[in-house]
Amino acid sequence: MTSLPASAAPCSCACSCEPSETEMFARLDEVISEYREKPGGLIPALQTAQSVFGYLPETVIRRIAEGFGKTVSEVAGVVTFYSFFTLHPRGKYLVRVCLGTACYVRGGKDVLDAFKKKLQIEVGETTPDRQFSLEVGRCFGACGMAPVVMVNDTVYQRVKPARVGEMVNQIVAGAVVAASEKEHT
Ligand code: FES
Repeated sequence: MTSLPASAAPCSCACSCEPSETEMFARLDEVISEYREKPGGLIPALQTAQSVFGYLPETVIRRIAEGFGKTVSEVAGVVTFYSFFTLHPRGKYLVRVCLGTACYVRGGKDVLDAFKKKLQIEVGETTPDRQFSLEVGRCFGACGMAPVVMVNDTVYQRVKPARVGEMVNQIVAGAVVAASEKEHT
């Protein structure tokens, strides 16, 4: 396995530069070396790999399978079992609209439709500029504040469809990075 030179680690500075594919695979090899001997190490290895690549492409799954001495189908089975793993690239902002019972009753479907219209994508899709991906959730544990939307780790409460356009603009402007919780009333 390739060991990771310090200079090959993904950039952690404040600049907007992206690590090269070579750097990302070097990081992947380091992750495999770190976890392959550990019991239950496959899941954290996949999680770290997904954080490095943004998703789990086939090439990454193959490399992990090889590193862990497993078949590709074994690793792919784990990836498809857990919903937090994704085989497709996601946008910079993952919008998850809750369609649990409380949110649905209080207009979650209308909120979802507003996001579809604003972003011009369907559920499970990513905008061509890779800014936004749209998914649905099944209760985020904040039913009293329904309808609820999560954007990355930021919770938006009592979201109104009419405010979705403004919300998207604020997200692009950095609201998600700046705030951990935001209420739209
Ligand atoms: S149903 Fe949406 S947060 Fe519980």
